[in-house]
Formats: sequence, C-alpha cells, structure tokens
Amino acid sequence: MKAALEAMRESVRQQLDSVSDLKNLEALRVKYLGKKGELTGILKQMGKLSPEERPLIGQLANEVRSQLDAWMGETEQKVKEQLQAARLQAETVDISMPGKKKPTGGLHPLNQTLEDFIDIFQSMGFDVVDGPEVETDYYNFQALNVPQDHPARDMQDTFFLNENLLLRSQTSAAQIRVMEHRKPPIRIICPGRVFRADEVDATHSPVFHQVEGLVVDKGISICDLKGVLEQFAREIYGPETKVRFRPSFFPFTEPSVEVDVSCPECGQKGCRVCKGTGWIEILGAGMVHPNVLSGCGIDPEVYSGFAFGIGLDRLTTTRHKISDIRLLFENDLRFLKQFQK
Ligand code: PHE
Repeated sequence: MKAALEAMRESVRQQLDSVSDLKNLEALRVKYLGKKGELTGILKQMGKLSPEERPLIGQLANEVRSQLDAWMGETEQKVKEQLQAARLQAETVDISMPGKKKPTGGLHPLNQTLEDFIDIFQSMGFDVVDGPEVETDYYNFQALNVPQDHPARDMQDTFFLNENLLLRSQTSAAQIRVMEHRKPPIRIICPGRVFRADEVDATHSPVFHQVEGLVVDKGISICDLKGVLEQFAREIYGPETKVRFRPSFFPFTEPSVEVDVSCPECGQKGCRVCKGTGWIEILGAGMVHPNVLSGCGIDPEVYSGFAFGIGLDRLTTTRHKISDIRLLFENDLRFLKQFQK
C-alpha cells in the first residue's frame, strides 16, 4: 500500500504539470481525492493491514492527501494567472496605430481678430452691441450730422434699397441707436459688416468690417480717447507701439482725427507695409459732435464723448501680413487652414 500511495503521488504530480485549464484540474481532484476517488479506494483496504502497519500507512495517507491538496491549490493559482494573462494579452489596445482625426472647423482670421478686439475692450469695461445691416437714411447719415445732399455722403457711396433704406456704410449708425436708448455713462463697441460701392482691388472690397467704439460721460476729453486707443494698439501690436493723431474730418465728430500706429513690421525703419513712412493708419476717431449728442436727447453742455471706427479687415491683414484683402472673402480652405488654431 505504501508503494501504491507513493506511485499515486508521483502520478498526480506529473499530471498536474500538464494541466492547463480549471476543468481538467477539477477532474483530477475528483479522480484522486473525491469520495469515490483513488485515495479513498486505497484507504478502504486499510483493514487488511497489520495493527503495526496501520498507523504508519494512515500517516502516509494523510501526508499524501495534504500534499496533493497543496499541489492542486498551487496549480489552480497558476492556471488562473495564465488565463488572466492570456485575456489581458487578447484585450490589449494597439496604441501605436495612427488615430482617426475628426475634421474640425476653425475661426476665420477676421473672427479671431474680432475676438481679441472684444477681449481688449471688455477688459476696459465696454459692452458689445449689435446693429442692423439694413439701416435707414436717418441712422446712417442724418442723425450723424450728414443731412441729405451733404457732400460728405460721397465718401461713403453705398447701396440704397429704396429712398429711405440702405445697406449701412458705417457702424457709426449704432452710436445713435445706443444713445437713443441708454443714458450716459455709455461705453460700447459695435462690430459689424458694412457696405460701400467700392471697386474690388487688393485693399478695397464692397463688403468689409468695422468696429465702432463710443464713450459718453461727464468730463470725457480727447486724452481719454488717446489713452484707450494707445492701450488697444499696444495689446494688438505689442507694448512698444506708438500712436499718432492727425487732424481729419468726419461730420459727426469735432475735432476729428485719423489715428496711425508705428509700423509693427519694420519698427519705423520704413518697409512695404508702411510704404516707407514708418506709420500705418488704422482708424478714424474724434469727439462726438454736439449736434449728434443733442439729436439723441443728451445735453452737450453736460456730457461729452468720443467715438472711433476701426477697419477690422485692415487690422487683420496687417497683423498676419496678408497681401490682398480678397483672400479674406474667397473661402479658399488652403488659405483659411493656415489660421486654424
Ligand atoms: N465711420 C467712420 C468711417 O467709416 C469712422 C469713424 C467712426 C470716425 C467714429 C470717427 C468716429 O470712416
């Protein structure tokens, strides 16, 4: 019997080596350690042994049982680990595969400039307002101190829809709408599309974009205008930028100025962008004309204000060194993709 027990132990040990799944392992367990298993079978024959042999064989049988138990436990552990490793292997994601990129859109360079613009002015306390693109003659001209038949209209020859309605030629129309509805203090910018009967060339387009600014309060002077525009120019073109005012004329401001900034391209040495002058013109501005204020019910003896109108297209082309304004309107993806962020 001793030999049978030892042979069984050896045989189980060998078989366990080749077990690779839990089902086989369970079958072995039943075959050897189960109620009707081989170990029980051997023990049933204990009766035939002499009283001296019995305890020795009993002890050996117990040893064999606990040894087989331990081995089977170890094998179970090993098989489970192998199965787990195989599953992990099968489920690995190949991160070296190139991803599929979803095509996304981007902001048009004009809108990128506009967003920067809005950030700068909002940080100085300006509200952003909107105005209609189809305006009345009154808001686009008359309320801005340009009566019918005034020669200043020629500068802004635009598209009339009928006697009274037109495509706005300037965002300044929005000043009037705001001043009619809000009382000072007023601090707004109004970005938008404007229209003029201009021939298309590298610097002109019949549709372009302006941003109007307006501040009205007690004690506003041209120094405030200069401070705000200097701050704006430095944020857009860099902290070294200088600002220069030149006298000009707009019917709705008095005094009126054209505003130039030091050429960001050449640092005023003279280049193609500034046409050798060291300065580029970016906007028109001035102190709101008393007629305009009183026309909107604001007393010019008490309040004063300034206004400015910036061409967004010009700002965008000089900023990105775009040589032709038409590129902004042609919707050519090869051009637009260069500005995708
Ligand atoms: N509206 C003027 C233009 O289109 C610009 C401007 C705006 C000038 C506000 C002064 C004040 O040319």
